[in-house]
Amino acid sequence: MSETLARAGGDGGAAARPRKRIIVLTGAGVSQESGLATFRDAGGIWARYRIEDVATPDAYARDPARVLDFYTQRRAQLRDPAIDANDAHRALARLAGSDRHELLLVTQNVDDLHERGGSAGVLHMHGELFKTRCLACDRLVDDRADLTVARACDGCGAAGRLRPHVVWFGEMPLELDRIYSELMDCDLFVSIGTSGHVYPAADFVRAARSAGARTLELNLEPSEGATSFHDARYGPASILVPAWVDEILA
Ligand code: APR
Repeated sequence: MSETLARAGGDGGAAARPRKRIIVLTGAGVSQESGLATFRDAGGIWARYRIEDVATPDAYARDPARVLDFYTQRRAQLRDPAIDANDAHRALARLAGSDRHELLLVTQNVDDLHERGGSAGVLHMHGELFKTRCLACDRLVDDRADLTVARACDGCGAAGRLRPHVVWFGEMPLELDRIYSELMDCDLFVSIGTSGHVYPAADFVRAARSAGARTLELNLEPSEGATSFHDARYGPASILVPAWVDEILA
């Protein structure tokens, strides 16, 4: 899919547009300084849990209680008053407020810290932790409460059919058609705080670049796909992102 769309690209007439179109992709690294663990760093979530036990449709079918408990714990952490947006989240909201740029903020994160930092219209391609979906009636609701197998859907009444609105391994990320179409038509693609291990997000740099965009990585260290970017800066997101936004807005 990505290859077909990449070939369909061009320079998109970017030079003729007054407003610069920027796509920012964020990953767990942007929330790390807010107190949320990343997935693949030392001591990260996947060092403590096996993906196949808690983050696949098979895991949920086999042992829903275990899967729901994992997400209940993650919800509890996100409800902790000590967890809040950091300067990187806030800087991206500042960028969105600029009338010289059009920003599409795509995140792999299921937390709500971009929203708490002031961003609206964030595209959560891996879902949202504070939303629950009913597998019986497909109802999708805002929900910060604990998830248990005993809970019934408030819509259809079915018990044991609720799941977090989080994209599991083996499932299709959300809004991919829109994301790829925007990637074909952006001037700048910036990847922040992601290891580049998970596709299709890891492919976005290639798609944007082959369509003519400039590409930049802002990360603690070189990601898996570091060599695919035109430019890179390494350090903590709370420092790098506000500095980069200041430059863009200057
Ligand atoms: N500032 C900037 N980058 C950081 C910081 C920080 N303070 N701390 C860590 N990083 C970087 C790490 O160096 C790493 O490259 O953030 C990246 C985090 O990588 P992952 O843990 O793999 O997280 P992510 O890329 O978001 O994972 C993608 O994997 O399991 C799934 O669905 C989950 O959305 C997630 C996806």
